[in-house]
Amino acid sequence: MALVPYVENVIPALSKLQNSSAQFHFANHDVCLVQDWKKLGVAAVVWDAAVVMCMYLELGQVEIKGKVAIELGAGTGLVGIVAALLGAKVTITDREPALDFLSANIKANLPTDIQESAVVSELSWGEGLERYPAGGFDLVLGADIVYLEDTFVPLLQTLEHLCSDTTVVLLACKIRYERDTNFLSMLKQRFRVEEVYYEKERDIHIYKAWKLPSRRDL
Ligand SMILES: C[S@@+](CC[C@H](N)C(=O)[O-])C[C@H]1O[C@@H](n2cnc3c(N)ncnc32)[C@H](O)[C@@H]1O
Repeated sequence: MALVPYVENVIPALSKLQNSSAQFHFANHDVCLVQDWKKLGVAAVVWDAAVVMCMYLELGQVEIKGKVAIELGAGTGLVGIVAALLGAKVTITDREPALDFLSANIKANLPTDIQESAVVSELSWGEGLERYPAGGFDLVLGADIVYLEDTFVPLLQTLEHLCSDTTVVLLACKIRYERDTNFLSMLKQRFRVEEVYYEKERDIHIYKAWKLPSRRDL
């Protein structure tokens, strides 16, 4: 599957994605991420959903310090970096072609004493899930990862594998197409889902989800 879904310059609002870097200030730290749209497409630019997710994490409405977290489809790693800066132990994942770029951004932005709180790892949704502990995470984070219909089933399988019934899932979503809501419907069959935040300017929704007990557990 190609990592570049848009033809450059066709959508003017996407032009900022072609900047070679993006700067932020979160968790009392400056974060400067290298972007490379031409080389890696969607995985190598910072999407608004990641920015809004970090704003939400900073609000402190979800406990992060000391929690074991995993980020799915991390791209440049902004969310994982901010989660680590806020005190989580975080596994930051994406597909294999994105990992070197992701690792370099994380290394460049985490102070040495926090570097070991973040581990980069390959996770292509639905594949090799046995490498990750079933139900082994307190927090599962995903920013702008609901956009490819073909991935909805494996993404849901991945969430089901990673979550116990106490895991909190946070998804920051831009609902671009009607089909994106299909994923939310699928999610609601296995998880309790609440919208906990909406950022109007960027039109980003944050959903919080908890796995429903399976029939066996009832
Ligand atoms: C729109 S980008 C979002 C990147 C980042 N989370 C952000 O918000 O800036 C979608 C990300 O999902 C990843 N992705 C797409 N399909 C995937 C799959 N099947 N398994 C794992 N990651 C995938 C892409 O590589 C990309 O990094």
